[in-house]
Amino acid sequence: MSAILSVKDIHTFIGQFHILEGVSAEVRTGEITVLLGRNGAGKTTTLRSIMGLNPPKHGQILFEGKPIQGKTPYAIAQMGIGYVPEHRAIFKGLSVRENLHLAERAKGDFARKADFIFELFPDLKRLIDLSGGNLSGGQQQMLAVARALVPDNRLLLIDEPSEGLAPVIIEQLMAAIQRLSSTVSVLLVEQNFRVASKLAQRYVIIDEGHSPLSGLMADLVTDSALIQKYLGVA
Ligand SMILES: Nc1ncnc2c1ncn2[C@@H]1O[C@H](COP(=O)(O)OP(=O)(O)O)[C@@H](O)[C@H]1O
Ligand SMILES: [Mg+2]
Repeated sequence: MSAILSVKDIHTFIGQFHILEGVSAEVRTGEITVLLGRNGAGKTTTLRSIMGLNPPKHGQILFEGKPIQGKTPYAIAQMGIGYVPEHRAIFKGLSVRENLHLAERAKGDFARKADFIFELFPDLKRLIDLSGGNLSGGQQQMLAVARALVPDNRLLLIDEPSEGLAPVIIEQLMAAIQRLSSTVSVLLVEQNFRVASKLAQRYVIIDEGHSPLSGLMADLVTDSALIQKYLGVA
């Protein structure tokens, strides 16, 4: 299976701070790769580097074989990468419908995707005329993911979707991400190891701005020493 995304030894600075000191990661077509690591390890910065929001100073990022480093966030999004940032960046003053329409890249995107989106997130159909601010945290997260599905994206970058949500809502959300991954490849940041290990085929550990380890999730789950070392969970 081929890689839809290859991040090769990227170095990213924020101001004078050298935040990523050589991060590599790969997402294969049709799979979910999860970035694991402690708070402050550099997971969000990795996603922001890929999107061009914190452009790396060195290294290479290939999307479908083409280099994207140095392009603007707009140009990178146009190529077919959707970004769902931390903290559910939806428009709280706009309705669910308006939020979904605003995510269109081409006219008619939402109409084309509506059936698929409502099949994944039936709640959103019911709540279509409610304003974003009146949704629960879980519903807002579902809307944030749904927005990234409106345009024809082939890769989604999703940052900590389960943060602050109740276990039953996390389960619904992860089931939806599992299902959408059959049509869109996913690079996920997920702090909850149990959740991540059920969802992702592959993992990349991010630690202090490096990516010391990556591989098959099935191999990581049996290695409790490694999990303890990098994630601090047993
Ligand atoms: N705007 C910023 N200015 C200075 N340092 C930052 C900024 N944003 C993030 N950092 C630092 O970069 C490191 C990585 O952050 P981040 O990528 O958000 O980590 P993670 O998502 O893994 O929790 C942290 O040490 C954090 O303090
Ligand atoms: Mg983060």
